[in-house]
Amino acid sequence: MSKLGTTEVLLNEKKLYKPSAKILKNAKVKQWKAVQAKAKKDPLKFWDDSAKELEWYAPWKQTFDDSNAPFFKWFVGGKCNIAHNCLDRWIGTPVENKTAIIWESDAGNKRKMTYKELNRAVCKFANGLKFLKVKKGDRVAIYLQNIPETAIAMLACAKIGAVHSVVYAGFSANALRERIDDQRAKILITSDVGHRRGKVIAMKELCDKAISGSQSIQHVIVVRQDGGHVPMKINRDIFYDALTDTQPSTCPTEVMDSEDPLFILYTSGTTAKPKGVVHVHGYMVGVHKTFQWVMDIRGDETYWCTADPGWITGHSYIVYAPFMSGITTVMFEGVPDFPKPDRIWKMIEKYEVNILYTAPTLVRALMSYGEKWPDKYKLKSLRLLGSVGEPINPEAWRWYYKHVGKGKCQIMDTWWQTETGMFMITPLPSMPLKAGSATLPFPGIEAAVVDENGKKVPVGKGGFLVIKTPWPSMLRTLFNNPERYVDTYWNKIPGYYLTGDMAHVDKDGYFWIQGRSDDVIKIAGHRIGNAEIESAIVSHKSVAEAGVIGKPHPIKGQCAKAFVILNRGVNPNDKLVNEIKRTIRSKLGPIAVVDEIEFVEKLPKTRSGKIMRRVLKAQELGEDLGDTSGLAD
Ligand code: PRX
Repeated sequence: MSKLGTTEVLLNEKKLYKPSAKILKNAKVKQWKAVQAKAKKDPLKFWDDSAKELEWYAPWKQTFDDSNAPFFKWFVGGKCNIAHNCLDRWIGTPVENKTAIIWESDAGNKRKMTYKELNRAVCKFANGLKFLKVKKGDRVAIYLQNIPETAIAMLACAKIGAVHSVVYAGFSANALRERIDDQRAKILITSDVGHRRGKVIAMKELCDKAISGSQSIQHVIVVRQDGGHVPMKINRDIFYDALTDTQPSTCPTEVMDSEDPLFILYTSGTTAKPKGVVHVHGYMVGVHKTFQWVMDIRGDETYWCTADPGWITGHSYIVYAPFMSGITTVMFEGVPDFPKPDRIWKMIEKYEVNILYTAPTLVRALMSYGEKWPDKYKLKSLRLLGSVGEPINPEAWRWYYKHVGKGKCQIMDTWWQTETGMFMITPLPSMPLKAGSATLPFPGIEAAVVDENGKKVPVGKGGFLVIKTPWPSMLRTLFNNPERYVDTYWNKIPGYYLTGDMAHVDKDGYFWIQGRSDDVIKIAGHRIGNAEIESAIVSHKSVAEAGVIGKPHPIKGQCAKAFVILNRGVNPNDKLVNEIKRTIRSKLGPIAVVDEIEFVEKLPKTRSGKIMRRVLKAQELGEDLGDTSGLAD
């Protein structure tokens, strides 16, 4: 594996990849230049036409409203429901008999559901939620693994106008509690147990801990994954099958305003408190359009996104986009290298997957086992590959292209965020690609790289990545915190949406994403705030202060290192290191792994007492310390 850091490799990459014959067979994708030009000329018309590709109960009166910027509105007055576009519209058409979900469990068991069966399950569950008195606008927390019931629960909420909030099942009871309390969720949906790498995870037990003393949760719905041998609290807990079995299999879909909330998804920011990103039903327009064009959706194909429904990728592109396109989506409970490093390649052959959408960290992890694993498989069904979550270093890009795509599949390196809801900077399949570049903004999107005053930086020079004009799938606010929404995204460089990423643009206008500019780390593609980890560390009784930085890591992209000051009289030792690691895990969950803990006497601080993580990082990586005039000591 390359010794170079991601940035250097990215900056040195020159080679242009041309589209393969497999891609050019489809005339539609050849039109990308014309589509780009048209959308650039009149972006509102582009989004207006895109919205018309979906079904609405009543048309909108105005495509876009910026009278209360940055609280933008789209398709004002339009009535719709994303669940209608995922399910209702297919019922009574040939799509109803198509497979909607192919699911494989960690142990290798298989389940399949047609659109008709999925619709029936969603209706029954929607009726079950109504039976539990869930109403339009109520929040429903979902703490489930990658199983069909996760998609069913999300769609059932959307159908009745409830707001779902999926919490990734790798989060701790503490993190789950924080998210449930913030949104005051009425219902929690979970399972008795979960499975990962052959191990059993006590999901219900964790949920019981998370909601002990909760003021808002009225009921817990428990999916039986393993017989349901878990304690159930009378009048509060109910099994999913007991709730749904007797419910009718049809349920009217609630007519929603295009601007009504669809879900809240918490994500990490620069403070210890996660942000509740709010998306609305009208988000469907951008999600549908981007999926259709970027993944070049052709109808009768099978698509597999290896993300988890607990992240935005799972929301937009495991659940909503594939169902709005009426295609078959693969859901997988397990991990790609268990029981052997060829699990993912085996599944591609078994289910004849045509489009694979995954993350660079997974490509690098599978790369580390050697190409002998994918080389054993022909992977003939594959037509298109995707990447998301962090910059893909050209070495991983080329491995993915050669050993997975066998040199015939274009790689769609899609740059986007929880907040953007949809792909923003991404190739279209017939574009020439450069290994490691997310290429160009999607039609209708205006992106730029600017300095701190909002001035465009010269070609090749790094700067802040901003989006210059609003788009339909954008977040509308942060739940319960509109001020933070304005401050985080719109006030720092006025007039532009600040992404928090650094990038540069090359002479062809291609964007090269370099990583986060703010205090957010991407560990194996998972977004986690430095402040969140620090706050978990200082909750340990022996710790006085902590500073956390992200460091390059050959497989995970980045890993975390903590500098810790212990309380007076406490001596550093290995036992303490393990205890602190355990504290982090119990506060945040297994996603927040800190690889290194170094005990120090002092931390670099500003005069106002803020830890200068930038200085810690430069010191650690042996880089120039930059401007240190703000240092207190
Ligand atoms: O830093 C960028 C990185 O992931 C961040 C968004 O993280 P999250 O909200 O968790 O959403 C991830 C899935 C959409 C971005 O600010 N990122 C995402 N995709 C890419 C990327 N960095 C480089 N290239 C990408 N393709």
